[in-house]
Amino acid sequence: MDKYNKNSRHMTEGVERTANRAMLKAVGFKDEDFVKPIIGVASAGSDVSPCNCHHDDLADVARDYLNNHNMKGVRFNTFVVTDGEAMGHEGMKASLVSREVIADTIELVSRGHQLDAVFGIGGCDKTIPGTVMPMARLNIPSIFLYGGTIKAGHYNGRAIDIVSAFEAVGAFKAGKITKTVRLGIEKNACPGPGACGGMYTANTMASAMEAIGMSLPGSSGIPAVDPEKYESVKASAEALIYLIKNNITPRDIMTRKAFENAIRVVMALGGSTNAVLHLIALGREADVSLTIDDFNYYSDTTPILADMKPAGKYVMEDLHRAGGVPLVMKMLLDEGLLHGDCLTVTGKSVEANLKDVKGLSDNQKVVYPISSPVKTTGPIVVLKGNLAPEGAVLKTCGLSEVEHQGPARVFDSEEEAMNAILGGGVVKGDVVVIRYEGPKGGPGMREMLAPTSAIAGAGLINDVALITDGRFSGGSHGMVVGHITPEAQTKGPIAAIKEGDIVTISSGKKTISVNLKPEEIEQRLKNWTPRNTGYDRGALAKFAKLCRSASEGAITS
Ligand code: FES
Repeated sequence: MDKYNKNSRHMTEGVERTANRAMLKAVGFKDEDFVKPIIGVASAGSDVSPCNCHHDDLADVARDYLNNHNMKGVRFNTFVVTDGEAMGHEGMKASLVSREVIADTIELVSRGHQLDAVFGIGGCDKTIPGTVMPMARLNIPSIFLYGGTIKAGHYNGRAIDIVSAFEAVGAFKAGKITKTVRLGIEKNACPGPGACGGMYTANTMASAMEAIGMSLPGSSGIPAVDPEKYESVKASAEALIYLIKNNITPRDIMTRKAFENAIRVVMALGGSTNAVLHLIALGREADVSLTIDDFNYYSDTTPILADMKPAGKYVMEDLHRAGGVPLVMKMLLDEGLLHGDCLTVTGKSVEANLKDVKGLSDNQKVVYPISSPVKTTGPIVVLKGNLAPEGAVLKTCGLSEVEHQGPARVFDSEEEAMNAILGGGVVKGDVVVIRYEGPKGGPGMREMLAPTSAIAGAGLINDVALITDGRFSGGSHGMVVGHITPEAQTKGPIAAIKEGDIVTISSGKKTISVNLKPEEIEQRLKNWTPRNTGYDRGALAKFAKLCRSASEGAITS
């Protein structure tokens, strides 16, 4: 067995390590454990979040399974900033930053204790890329387990979820629902543990990690409270033991072709725009060259096959019952839209994993045939133009195309925009511009779910566009463009826009522009200075200093 503890032996072998072993014995190590591989079981468990409140239980099952199979599992915790709770206030500035700190946490614990392998558990938006990024960085045998989706809530005979609660705000303020209904939605939207149920960012990224090969086939769809989840933990631990014994590491799995598979699946599921940000960041960790310009090809050539919220009807649990991510992957593979030869954590190829997956059943309505899909192209379009020379991301989910032109309504923060929307100050045809919310300007690139939900709740979803150098929750829908790069805080053209300028968005032409000549933009920015963000120390200040642009994944490493 000693050949498998090639890292941890630096901590456990020899006379010089007497003190190290003494400390490990205090936490239950026996002499025979010092020749076993030490596997870090990284859990994002937390009492603060339904997405993560059960992760430590899953981690205990993983650790015990490993310990019963001649390995030595040690649990440690990462953490979570839960977007649904951080949304709409200063807290959201900590969200994307948390991805980086979670990644660094796993890296540092693994390096500090010379771990031989990582079993990572994540389940809110940032905990998923934050857990997988260090696996690529460290390149030691690793597997990712998704904590699982929440079940649907029910109120007044209707299935609801967290986005129903966000949209209840705009609907209530616009007088469309009563206080009783609003409180009923609040009480029933989240019925227990699990990540937000639609094809929002957590389910998008969990599906992407299955498609990329870092999670077991079928595992990303299993609901958090389903007994099947615990079987999946054990199967994942068993797979990790295989990876250790065969020295299969994340960079063997996360190749360029594997990233292409992940992008295809994100598109076919109608996934979140955050996948652009996170997959570019993960690509950098894996030394895979992936740019924002790569995404349009896959969007143009991948149909949306699953009718998922926020634009569609169904949630992750429904997709799982219909056949889950493996069904969608099998359909893409059969159509020649997936690379079947990519290695996965099973030790087998994508094609081998999907060999026994049955085709589309008539008894479900979630997944559409490839010959008559939900939409013939994907949900994400990368735009460029004089407003976003380095790129922006448009979500077309639910809309066949977005062609919008209207006057800019300019706000220098999410709060300013929210006040205007809820106060009735935004009207049909407007383009709401929310700037200084980028990675450096926020800092932290907040998600604009509250403003987009307020627009939806006010019944303006098809009439008002929202553009920002911030980003969107996977729950946002409507005419929304985020990740505008360069951001306002780095003197991007978005900083030059004034009230009433005419903004044009075209998904067909893949452009976003403002009716200003280059010299006008230059003139307006002549005396521009960056805004004081108010953060001159701590994690947010460090992030603002180190992060790359949104088009480069806003990564700090
Ligand atoms: Fe955790 Fe949505 S807030 S997945």
